[in-house]
Amino acid sequence: MRSFAANELSAPEAYALLVGIVVPRPVAWITTVNAAGTVNAAPFSCYTFVCNRPPMLAVNIGRRGEALKDTAANIAATGQFVVNVATEETLASMHASSAEYAPGESEAAALGLKTLASAHVAPPRLACSPIAMECRTERLLELGEQRSGLLIGEVLAFHVAEALLAGDRVAMDRFHPIARLGGPHYAALGRIITQPRVGQAGPTERR
Ligand SMILES: Cc1cc2nc3c(=O)[nH]c(=O)nc-3n(C[C@H](O)[C@H](O)[C@H](O)COP(=O)(O)O)c2cc1C
Repeated sequence: MRSFAANELSAPEAYALLVGIVVPRPVAWITTVNAAGTVNAAPFSCYTFVCNRPPMLAVNIGRRGEALKDTAANIAATGQFVVNVATEETLASMHASSAEYAPGESEAAALGLKTLASAHVAPPRLACSPIAMECRTERLLELGEQRSGLLIGEVLAFHVAEALLAGDRVAMDRFHPIARLGGPHYAALGRIITQPRVGQAGPTERR
């Protein structure tokens, strides 16, 4: 066992540990628009949900040196974004969209990704994504020395492909999300293990 004092680690050293430890991470493939309406698409795996009424998601968007990434700049200007769920099928395009495109250049157009108009926000969703969530910014916090952006978004609408629904739930046997691991690695879902709910079923248990 090796121990690491966190205050002796550089930012890249801490990053290397964190991305290998906090796994598997789902991938939020975020679409935004700039003032000219150009559609930006980029993946973010430092992502989870943090509230269910109203539903809220949290995503961490780091900086590129001192500058904001295009996704963060667009969200700061518009307060709107769409989280498209990345799947095994869309892995190649999702991964390709993480390349550094010039601010005015659309990853969606460059990669031939079709979009569908959203109902509540200006950024469109990606047609290839079977699940998408339209969001507005609830809160934006800056964290740490590198002023990492912790974005909390309220979900205004969920879009789920009929084929992935089992009643009011997502059918876990038909949904194939892709997860980010440390380094250049991804993972698909492995064996699904089902356990009965523990304790008495009460209203607070239904999370
Ligand atoms: C699977 C994957 C997950 C990523 N997760 C994050 C993340 O959580 N936070 C972040 O700042 N960048 C993350 N990145 C890097 C961004 O996608 C990358 O910086 C991208 O160029 C940002 O694009 P933009 O400038 O159009 O916003 C990730 C890249 C990949 C491939």
